[in-house]
Amino acid sequence: MARRAVPRSEAVKLTRYKHACHAMFHAPNEDKLFGRIPVRHTVLMQMRFDGRLGFPGGFVNLEEGLEAGLNRELEEEMGLDVRLCGITEGDWAVTEVHDEQNFVSHFYIKKVTPEQIRQIETAATTAKDHGLESLGLVRVPVYTLPRDKVGGLPAFLSNTFIGTAREELLMGLEQEGILSHSEIHKALKASGATRH
Ligand code: GTP
Ligand code: MN
Ligand code: MN
Ligand code: MN
Ligand code: MN
Ligand code: MN
Repeated sequence: MARRAVPRSEAVKLTRYKHACHAMFHAPNEDKLFGRIPVRHTVLMQMRFDGRLGFPGGFVNLEEGLEAGLNRELEEEMGLDVRLCGITEGDWAVTEVHDEQNFVSHFYIKKVTPEQIRQIETAATTAKDHGLESLGLVRVPVYTLPRDKVGGLPAFLSNTFIGTAREELLMGLEQEGILSHSEIHKALKASGATRH
């Protein structure tokens, strides 16, 4: 499964490839689990129809535009109010080309407020594709439980993810300063999951 990272400007020239865009929404979180374990941050993913975890989004046409296509998918899958929380070019994070599959995957990251996270979650159950393509948004546990050092993010990472969504999650956590490189490394070791 060879893949290469390319700038957005190069990727949009790949007119013979299929393109997909997905997005990670996140917000700071002051809550404490059981009144003592800091939740630290809210990060949204989606349980997909196929039982795998991924980010909301989907296939886009280059003619409609990457971000316009992504916002269309986000409205379909999570009922996103795109005027309030829509994705723009400035939210672009990474693009990877999978030459063997004729496939280009674009990933976006958007920081919102805790209040906007609640609005997004409330709207999600009213989305056209809720219960169909999307079985619901899920919050990623970004903490690790002190009691066994596996519960939380390590256990979450041993789920099955679509495509490179797991790598995108880890990249997003580090790039947004949600977790440090060494915290991510520790969580990966504790997860015991085989990387793919
Ligand atoms: P349809 O309406 O059924 O076509 O679905 P969709 O347009 O919502 O497409 P989907 O979200 O399934 O994404 C298209 C392709 O991108 C999938 O077949 C996966 O291979 C890949 N994909 C899905 N989710 C993710 C993700 O979170 N990250 C990455 N990198 N790829 C993903
Ligand atoms: Mn989708
Ligand atoms: Mn879709
Ligand atoms: Mn699909
Ligand atoms: Mn689609
Ligand atoms: Mn669809």
